[in-house]
Order: sequence, then C-alpha cells, then structure tokens
Amino acid sequence: MTNLIDSGKTKELFETEDKNVLRVHYTDHTTAGDGLRNELIDNKGAVNNQISSLIFQFLTKNDIPNHFIKKISDTDQLNQRVNMIPLEVVVRNLSSGHFQKRFGTDDLQKLSKTVVEFFMKSDHLHDPMLNDLDAQALNIAKENELITMRHLALKVNRFMSELFMDMGIILVDFKLEFGINDNGQIILADEISPDSCRLIDATTKNSLDKDVFRKQEGNMMNGYYKILHKLENELG
Ligand code: CDP
Repeated sequence: MTNLIDSGKTKELFETEDKNVLRVHYTDHTTAGDGLRNELIDNKGAVNNQISSLIFQFLTKNDIPNHFIKKISDTDQLNQRVNMIPLEVVVRNLSSGHFQKRFGTDDLQKLSKTVVEFFMKSDHLHDPMLNDLDAQALNIAKENELITMRHLALKVNRFMSELFMDMGIILVDFKLEFGINDNGQIILADEISPDSCRLIDATTKNSLDKDVFRKQEGNMMNGYYKILHKLENELG
C-alpha cells in the first residue's frame, strides 16, 4: 500500500518505495471556474493519462527535461518527485480565453509574436497574472529560473505546435508547470492534456479541449478521444 500525499483538483499523488518517485493517479474530475464547477466525466482520467504520457515521451525524445518516468496503468503514471514552482506558465499562439477578453481582440486572432505569461497559482485570488519582477519580489522564482521556464516553454511550444499541425490540429494556447528536482534542475512537470491546452480542428475550427466543458457546448470527450487517437497514430 502506498500513501496518498497530495490531492489536486484532478489528480492524486501517492508515495512509492522510492522517495524520488511519485505515482500519479488521473481522476475523472473535471473543473472550471477555479474549481467552482467540478464534475465527473467518464473515462477522462484514463484518456488524459494516456495523452499526457504520449506527449511527455515525445518531449523526452526532443530533450526537454521533464518529470515523466512511465505509464503504469490506464489511469496511473510514475513521475519524478519535484518541488513544484507555484506558477502557471501560459504560452499563446493565437488570442483566446483571458487574453482575448483582456485585450478585446477577436477570438483566435493571429498574434505577431508568441506570448508567454506567468500566473500565480492561487484559486482564492483567481490565479493573478504576474511579471518577472513580481515573481522575484514575492520569492516565487528567481530571475534565472524565470528565464529558463520561458525558454523551455517556447521550446515545448515549437515541438507541440508542429506535432499537432501534422495531425490537422492547431495549438492555440496551453499551460505548463515546472518543478525543481533533487539536483536543483528546473524540469517540466504536471500534465499536458486537453484540460490544459486549447486545441482546435485546423479545418472546422471546432474545439477539441476543455473549452467544450467550460462553455457547456456538449460532450467534451469526443474531442479528447480524437486527440488521443491522432497522437497514437502519430507517435504510437
Ligand atoms: O482558460 P482560461 O480562459 O480560464 O484562461 P487562459 O489564461 O486564457 O488559459 C490559457 C491556457 O492555459 C488554456 O489552454 C487553458 O486551458 C490553460 N489553463 C490551465 O490549464 N489551467 C488554468 N488554471 C488556467 C489556464
């Protein structure tokens, strides 16, 4: 038996016999609005575990340092234990979501430059956006750590945008989280799935991600299955 050590909105973390390794269990919980909406959606955990595993394996092959070790069942994977940096790093290729609202652009408007933004992880403060100086002033991250995260996030974006483009899917934006491992190295952590990415069909522009749940536009799992099958064809 292993002990539950932490439980987030959608995942549960368990200790293993190796103190540097965690078992992460992906649940069917699906949240929106800082967790105010929380529903169980059948099979979502298993699908996200598989999608995230395939993407992290792909990033490992492309030399992105990350926490992924291996998938051990439909819903569980082993990850390197890290100290999470309490930031969300958002990369945007097209304007959508909060960015679109903040600046009043059209949805999916082209951007002249890829944007990287940092948000402080805090549900009760609604994840406020912060700049590099804010993050340093609040001792959330050091200057060189912010530079490393921004650099890695842009690299991940280049690999993932190309991967999805080959599958006829546009990566609109996504969120990453980073942690510091035992050697003091910043590595990519958490998950990469349609819960944390905006993905649209390149032809129809239909959402294939959690926006379907956020906007209550139908069964979001159709898009999730499509992403999984395409990733399996492309990478499997
Ligand atoms: O998605 P929302 O409009 O709330 O915020 P956003 O800043 O426009 O989100 C940008 C990207 O980060 C989207 O792909 C979201 O799915 C993802 N995100 C996330 O995974 N978790 C959050 N707490 C906020 C954003």
